[in-house]
Amino acid sequence: PTARTFYEEVGGEPVFRQLVARFYAGVRSDPVLARLYPQDDWDGAETRLRMFLQQYWGGPTTYQQQRGHPRLRMRHAPFAIGPAERDAWLRHMRDAVDSLDLTEEQDATLWGYMEMAARSMQNRWPDE
Ligand code: HEM
Repeated sequence: PTARTFYEEVGGEPVFRQLVARFYAGVRSDPVLARLYPQDDWDGAETRLRMFLQQYWGGPTTYQQQRGHPRLRMRHAPFAIGPAERDAWLRHMRDAVDSLDLTEEQDATLWGYMEMAARSMQNRWPDE
């Protein structure tokens, strides 16, 4: 039998819905981050992130079908993401991950990925 995916292991779609709903509630109320997002399409943004994360962790591949190859660094190029934006994004994601009922190991797996991904999305470095 095929090994269970991380997506299935943590509880599938309801868990990913909870994760991104909590995350975007934080982002929408964050003065640093909110202005970067499409003000007339918060639901769409939430759906895109959820579909991407579900696909990444072994769930349905709806993201790929609707959006094509993720190319996330390229898709983030229009947004100025410096240390403040990266840290704010991670702070809301940390809060969202904390709202889930994950084992320590699942938490570490998910969080390690989020930290790595947020670092790789940074595209502005203030002068030292
Ligand atoms: C899209 C900001 C990190 C995944 C977006 C959008 C913004 C944004 C403004 C456009 C919203 C939309 O219309 O979909 C940021 C900022 C980050 C960050 C400030 C700070 C580091 C990440 C990370 C991931 C991610 C770490 C993945 C784990 C996505 C995805 C989309 C998206 C999947 C939709 C792409 C598409 O199909 O168009 N992000 N993001 N972002 N972001 Fe981020």
